[in-house]
Amino acid sequence: MILIGHRGLAGLAPENTLSSFRAAHAHGLAMVEFDVRLSQDGVPLVFHDDTLERTTDGAGPVAGRDWADIARLDAGSWFAPAFAGEKVPSLEQALGLCLDLGLAVNMEIKPDRGREAGTAETALALALRLWPDGVAPPLVSSFDAPCLEAARRVAPHWPRALLLESLAPGWRDQAQGLDVGALHLDHRPLRAERVENARGAGFQVRAYTVNDPVRARQLRDWGVTGVFSDFPHSS
Ligand code: G3P
Ligand code: MG
Repeated sequence: MILIGHRGLAGLAPENTLSSFRAAHAHGLAMVEFDVRLSQDGVPLVFHDDTLERTTDGAGPVAGRDWADIARLDAGSWFAPAFAGEKVPSLEQALGLCLDLGLAVNMEIKPDRGREAGTAETALALALRLWPDGVAPPLVSSFDAPCLEAARRVAPHWPRALLLESLAPGWRDQAQGLDVGALHLDHRPLRAERVENARGAGFQVRAYTVNDPVRARQLRDWGVTGVFSDFPHSS
Protein backbone atom coordinates (compact mmCIF):
# COMPACT_ATOMS: atom_id res chain seq x y z
CA MET A 1 0.00 0.00 0.00
CA ILE A 2 1.27 3.44 -0.86
CA LEU A 3 1.20 6.35 1.57
CA ILE A 4 0.23 9.50 -0.31
CA GLY A 5 1.06 12.83 1.31
CA HIS A 6 -2.16 14.79 1.72
CA ARG A 7 -1.92 18.37 0.39
CA GLY A 8 1.84 17.76 0.30
CA LEU A 9 2.35 16.74 3.90
CA ALA A 10 -0.18 18.95 5.64
CA GLY A 11 0.63 17.88 9.19
CA LEU A 12 4.23 19.02 9.04
CA ALA A 13 4.19 22.02 6.70
CA PRO A 14 1.56 24.45 5.42
CA GLU A 15 -0.76 22.50 3.15
CA ASN A 16 -0.44 22.75 -0.62
CA THR A 17 2.83 24.69 -0.58
CA LEU A 18 6.24 23.89 -2.01
CA SER A 19 7.44 23.38 1.57
CA SER A 20 4.83 20.70 2.05
CA PHE A 21 6.08 18.84 -1.04
CA ARG A 22 9.65 19.14 0.18
CA ALA A 23 8.55 17.80 3.58
CA ALA A 24 6.88 14.80 1.95
CA HIS A 25 10.02 14.04 0.01
CA ALA A 26 12.25 14.53 3.06
CA HIS A 27 10.14 12.02 5.00
CA GLY A 28 10.50 9.41 2.29
CA LEU A 29 7.07 9.62 0.71
CA ALA A 30 6.94 8.71 -2.96
CA MET A 31 3.69 10.50 -3.86
CA VAL A 32 1.74 13.62 -2.96
CA GLU A 33 -1.84 14.76 -3.46
CA PHE A 34 -2.67 18.41 -3.94
CA ASP A 35 -5.69 20.49 -4.90
CA VAL A 36 -5.93 22.56 -8.08
CA ARG A 37 -8.27 25.47 -8.78
CA LEU A 38 -8.28 28.56 -10.99
CA SER A 39 -7.63 32.21 -10.21
CA GLN A 40 -10.00 34.80 -11.64
CA ASP A 41 -7.74 35.21 -14.66
CA GLY A 42 -7.65 31.47 -15.25
CA VAL A 43 -4.25 30.50 -13.85
CA PRO A 44 -4.25 27.02 -12.30
CA LEU A 45 -2.90 27.13 -8.76
CA VAL A 46 -2.56 24.81 -5.78
CA PHE A 47 -5.08 25.60 -3.06
CA HIS A 48 -7.73 23.73 -1.13
CA ASP A 49 -10.44 26.12 0.03
CA ASP A 50 -12.57 28.26 -2.25
CA THR A 51 -11.73 31.27 -0.08
CA LEU A 52 -8.39 32.65 1.07
CA GLU A 53 -8.92 33.26 4.80
CA ARG A 54 -7.98 29.98 6.43
CA THR A 55 -4.55 29.46 4.89
CA THR A 56 -3.36 32.92 3.76
CA ASP A 57 -3.34 36.52 4.90
CA GLY A 58 -5.81 37.34 2.11
CA ALA A 59 -9.60 37.26 2.12
CA GLY A 60 -12.46 36.42 -0.21
CA PRO A 61 -12.93 33.91 -3.00
CA VAL A 62 -9.86 32.58 -4.82
CA ALA A 63 -11.90 32.85 -8.02
CA GLY A 64 -12.30 36.58 -7.40
CA ARG A 65 -8.58 37.37 -7.42
CA ASP A 66 -6.03 37.41 -10.22
CA TRP A 67 -2.97 35.20 -9.96
CA ALA A 68 -0.64 38.18 -9.52
CA ASP A 69 -2.55 39.14 -6.34
CA ILE A 70 -2.68 35.59 -4.98
CA ALA A 71 1.04 35.09 -5.65
CA ARG A 72 1.83 37.93 -3.23
CA LEU A 73 -0.02 36.39 -0.28
CA ASP A 74 1.59 34.73 2.74
CA ALA A 75 0.45 31.11 2.82
CA GLY A 76 2.72 29.96 5.63
CA SER A 77 2.38 32.17 8.72
CA TRP A 78 -1.01 30.72 9.68
CA PHE A 79 0.70 27.33 10.11
CA ALA A 80 3.84 28.40 11.99
CA PRO A 81 6.07 31.49 12.10
CA ALA A 82 8.92 29.48 10.57
CA PHE A 83 6.93 29.32 7.35
CA ALA A 84 6.29 33.05 7.05
CA GLY A 85 6.57 34.18 3.45
CA GLU A 86 5.62 30.80 1.99
CA LYS A 87 3.63 31.39 -1.22
CA VAL A 88 0.64 29.80 -2.90
CA PRO A 89 2.23 27.79 -5.71
CA SER A 90 1.05 27.91 -9.27
CA LEU A 91 0.35 24.48 -10.73
CA GLU A 92 3.37 24.98 -12.95
CA GLN A 93 5.63 25.56 -9.91
CA ALA A 94 4.15 22.58 -8.06
CA LEU A 95 4.55 20.17 -10.95
CA GLY A 96 8.07 21.45 -11.62
CA LEU A 97 9.14 20.77 -8.05
CA CYS A 98 7.50 17.35 -7.95
CA LEU A 99 9.30 16.42 -11.17
CA ASP A 100 12.60 17.67 -9.75
CA LEU A 101 12.09 15.67 -6.55
CA GLY A 102 10.81 12.58 -8.33
CA LEU A 103 7.52 12.71 -6.42
CA ALA A 104 4.54 11.02 -8.04
CA VAL A 105 1.52 13.32 -8.24
CA ASN A 106 -2.20 13.17 -7.62
CA MET A 107 -3.85 16.37 -8.87
CA GLU A 108 -7.27 16.80 -7.34
CA ILE A 109 -9.32 19.21 -9.47
CA LYS A 110 -11.52 21.54 -7.40
CA PRO A 111 -13.67 23.59 -9.76
CA ASP A 112 -15.78 26.63 -9.05
CA ARG A 113 -19.37 26.37 -10.16
CA GLY A 114 -19.60 27.05 -13.87
CA ARG A 115 -15.91 26.38 -14.49
CA GLU A 116 -15.92 22.61 -14.04
CA ALA A 117 -14.69 21.58 -17.48
CA GLY A 118 -12.53 24.68 -17.87
CA THR A 119 -10.63 24.03 -14.65
CA ALA A 120 -9.78 20.47 -15.65
CA GLU A 121 -8.96 21.43 -19.24
CA THR A 122 -6.62 24.22 -18.16
CA ALA A 123 -4.86 22.14 -15.51
CA LEU A 124 -4.49 19.11 -17.75
CA ALA A 125 -3.28 21.10 -20.76
CA LEU A 126 -0.54 22.63 -18.63
CA ALA A 127 0.42 19.30 -17.06
CA LEU A 128 0.51 17.62 -20.47
CA ARG A 129 2.83 20.35 -21.76
CA LEU A 130 5.18 19.99 -18.78
CA TRP A 131 5.19 16.24 -18.40
CA PRO A 132 8.28 14.47 -19.78
CA ASP A 133 7.99 11.25 -21.76
CA GLY A 134 8.87 8.24 -19.68
CA VAL A 135 7.74 9.66 -16.32
CA ALA A 136 4.58 8.16 -14.82
CA PRO A 137 1.80 10.69 -15.48
CA PRO A 138 -0.14 12.40 -12.71
CA LEU A 139 -3.21 10.71 -11.33
CA VAL A 140 -6.18 13.04 -11.83
CA SER A 141 -9.02 12.95 -9.33
CA SER A 142 -12.14 14.95 -8.56
CA PHE A 143 -15.45 14.84 -6.73
CA ASP A 144 -16.85 16.50 -9.83
CA ALA A 145 -17.98 14.37 -12.78
CA PRO A 146 -17.64 17.08 -15.48
CA CYS A 147 -14.02 17.57 -14.38
CA LEU A 148 -13.29 13.90 -14.91
CA GLU A 149 -15.07 13.92 -18.28
CA ALA A 150 -12.92 16.87 -19.33
CA ALA A 151 -9.76 15.12 -18.07
CA ARG A 152 -10.68 12.09 -20.14
CA ARG A 153 -11.04 14.24 -23.28
CA VAL A 154 -7.78 16.13 -22.75
CA ALA A 155 -5.56 13.32 -21.44
CA PRO A 156 -7.37 10.05 -22.17
CA HIS A 157 -4.42 7.87 -21.21
CA TRP A 158 -3.73 9.49 -17.85
CA PRO A 159 -5.14 7.67 -14.82
CA ARG A 160 -8.29 9.05 -13.23
CA ALA A 161 -10.06 8.50 -9.91
CA LEU A 162 -13.51 9.46 -8.71
CA LEU A 163 -13.64 10.96 -5.22
CA LEU A 164 -16.65 10.00 -3.14
CA GLU A 165 -17.58 10.56 0.46
CA SER A 166 -19.36 7.21 0.51
CA LEU A 167 -20.61 4.49 -1.80
CA ALA A 168 -24.08 5.95 -2.21
CA PRO A 169 -26.58 4.29 -4.58
CA GLY A 170 -25.46 4.77 -8.17
CA TRP A 171 -21.73 4.84 -7.45
CA ARG A 172 -20.98 1.91 -9.71
CA ASP A 173 -22.78 3.35 -12.75
CA GLN A 174 -21.19 6.72 -12.18
CA ALA A 175 -17.67 5.33 -11.88
CA GLN A 176 -18.12 3.04 -14.87
CA GLY A 177 -19.57 5.87 -16.94
CA LEU A 178 -16.57 8.04 -16.13
CA ASP A 179 -14.20 5.19 -16.98
CA VAL A 180 -12.04 5.74 -13.90
CA GLY A 181 -9.61 3.17 -12.61
CA ALA A 182 -10.01 3.98 -8.93
CA LEU A 183 -12.26 5.31 -6.22
CA HIS A 184 -10.88 7.66 -3.60
CA LEU A 185 -13.12 7.25 -0.58
CA ASP A 186 -13.48 8.88 2.81
CA HIS A 187 -12.11 6.20 5.12
CA ARG A 188 -14.57 6.88 7.96
CA PRO A 189 -17.63 5.06 6.61
CA LEU A 190 -15.47 2.47 4.84
CA ARG A 191 -16.01 -1.19 5.76
CA ALA A 192 -14.37 -4.39 4.48
CA GLU A 193 -17.46 -5.29 2.50
CA ARG A 194 -17.57 -1.91 0.75
CA VAL A 195 -13.93 -2.21 -0.27
CA GLU A 196 -14.70 -5.68 -1.59
CA ASN A 197 -17.65 -4.38 -3.60
CA ALA A 198 -15.58 -1.62 -5.14
CA ARG A 199 -12.72 -3.95 -5.98
CA GLY A 200 -15.15 -6.54 -7.29
CA ALA A 201 -16.49 -3.92 -9.68
CA GLY A 202 -12.96 -3.45 -11.00
CA PHE A 203 -11.82 -0.33 -9.15
CA GLN A 204 -8.77 0.22 -7.04
CA VAL A 205 -9.59 1.84 -3.70
CA ARG A 206 -7.62 4.57 -1.98
CA ALA A 207 -8.81 6.21 1.23
CA TYR A 208 -8.54 9.71 2.71
CA THR A 209 -7.48 11.08 5.18
CA VAL A 210 -5.87 8.41 7.32
CA ASN A 211 -3.58 9.70 10.05
CA ASP A 212 -3.82 6.65 12.31
CA PRO A 213 -1.36 3.88 11.35
CA VAL A 214 -3.56 1.21 12.93
CA ARG A 215 -6.47 2.24 10.73
CA ALA A 216 -4.15 2.37 7.71
CA ARG A 217 -3.12 -1.25 8.31
CA GLN A 218 -6.73 -2.32 8.64
CA LEU A 219 -7.56 -0.65 5.34
CA ARG A 220 -4.56 -2.31 3.70
CA ASP A 221 -5.75 -5.69 4.95
CA TRP A 222 -9.13 -5.00 3.33
CA GLY A 223 -7.47 -4.36 -0.03
CA VAL A 224 -7.10 -0.58 -0.02
CA THR A 225 -4.02 0.18 -2.11
CA GLY A 226 -3.28 3.75 -1.00
CA VAL A 227 -4.03 6.08 1.88
CA PHE A 228 -3.77 9.86 1.96
CA SER A 229 -2.16 11.08 5.16
CA ASP A 230 -1.14 14.38 6.72
CA PHE A 231 1.72 12.65 8.52
CA PRO A 232 4.38 10.14 7.57
CA HIS A 233 3.73 6.75 9.12
CA SER A 234 4.64 3.23 8.22
CA SER A 235 1.69 1.06 7.36
O1 G3P B 1 -7.96 13.74 -2.60
C1 G3P B 1 -8.19 13.26 -1.31
C2 G3P B 1 -8.63 14.36 -0.37
O2 G3P B 1 -7.75 15.44 -0.51
C3 G3P B 1 -10.04 14.81 -0.61
O3 G3P B 1 -10.50 15.75 0.31
O4 G3P B 1 -11.05 18.04 1.04
O5 G3P B 1 -8.80 17.12 1.49
O6 G3P B 1 -9.43 17.75 -0.81
P1 G3P B 1 -9.92 17.22 0.52
MG1 MG C 1 -7.62 17.12 -1.85
